Amino acid sequence: EEGSATALANPNIALVKYWGKRDEALILPWTGSLSLTLDAAPTTTTVRLTDTPDDVVLLGGRPLEGTARSRVTRFIDLVRALADRDERVSVDSHNEIPTGAGLASSASGFAALALAASTAFGLDLDRRALSRLARRGSGSASRSIFDGIAVWHAGHDDESSFAEAVPAPGLELGMVLTVLDARAKSVSSRDGMRRTVDTSPYYPAWVERTPVELEEMLAAITRADFTAVGTIAERNAMRMHATMLGAEPPVRYWGPASVELLDLVANLRGDGLECYATMDAGPNVKILCRADAVDELAARILEAQPHIGVIPARAGRGARLITSE
Ligand code: DP6
Repeated sequence: EEGSATALANPNIALVKYWGKRDEALILPWTGSLSLTLDAAPTTTTVRLTDTPDDVVLLGGRPLEGTARSRVTRFIDLVRALADRDERVSVDSHNEIPTGAGLASSASGFAALALAASTAFGLDLDRRALSRLARRGSGSASRSIFDGIAVWHAGHDDESSFAEAVPAPGLELGMVLTVLDARAKSVSSRDGMRRTVDTSPYYPAWVERTPVELEEMLAAITRADFTAVGTIAERNAMRMHATMLGAEPPVRYWGPASVELLDLVANLRGDGLECYATMDAGPNVKILCRADAVDELAARILEAQPHIGVIPARAGRGARLITSE
C-alpha cells in the first residue's frame, strides 16, 4: 500500500573502498567496492505523502536547510519521476550516531530513504533496483540495502552500477567502531573524492589496482579466510588514504588519536587478538575482528583509551520496512 512508509537501514563499512566518481550526476564510481553492513547505529526514516506546497525534511526532529535539504529533495524528485507522481512529502529521519562524523550515516540514511520513499509512492522495487536508487543519494548507500557483505559493481551506466549480497558461509565478522571526534568532518567525502580524482597523481594507480584487490577479497571471503580478509581490508584503507594525501591540497582525515589507534590495533594483533583497522572520511578508526572477539576487542580498546567511545557491532541486516500504510 502507499501513502506512508517507515524503513530502517544500518550503516556499512567498506573493506574495499569506494573513492571517486566518474559520473557525479548518476554517482557512477571509478571502481567497485565491498562492505560489511552492521547491526548497529541504524537510521529510521518515515516518508509521508502530504498536500503541503513544499517537501518538509526533518533530521533528528529538526528541519534541514540548504544543501543538506536539497540533497534529500532532489533525491525525492528522482523517486517522483520513477513513480510518475508529483505529491510533496514529509521526511522524518533519525540517526543513532552523529551525522557527518565519518560513521557512514549517509549510507544508512539514503538506504532507508530509498526504501521508505519508493514504498510511500507505491513503487515495489526489487533489491537491485533499490540499490541503484539508493546509489543516487549516496554511493555507499547502495550497499546498505543488503545483509552482511555486499559488493557494489562499478558498472558503466545507471543500469549496471548496482550492489548485491556476497554469501560468506563460515565467515563471522565483527567490528568495533571508535568515536574519537563527533564533530562533523571538515571535508565531505563528496568534495574529498572530487579533489583526489582531479589532482592526485596516485589516483590512476588506485583505479588500476582496486579491481585486483576486489578479486582477492572475494576469493578470501569464499574460502572464509579471516586473516586474508582483514589484511586486504587494512591495506586497501591505507592505500585509499595514500591517494588522498597525494591530492592538492592534501585530503587528510587522520588525527593524532587515529594514529594511536592504528598502533593499538597492531599491538593487539601482536598479542594474539586478531584485528585489522580501516578508516573512512573521518578520524574514527573501525576495527574488524571475528564476531566472537567483539566484546574482548571493545574492552581492550577502552582499557588502552578510556576516554573514547566504542560501538561494538556484528554483521547486520539490510534495509527493511518497519511499517507501511
Ligand atoms: C570513504 O558514499 O559518502 O566511506 O557518493 O558522494 O555520497 P557520495 O559518497 P559516500 O562515500 C563513502 C566513502 C567511504 C568509502 C566507502 O564507503 O566505500
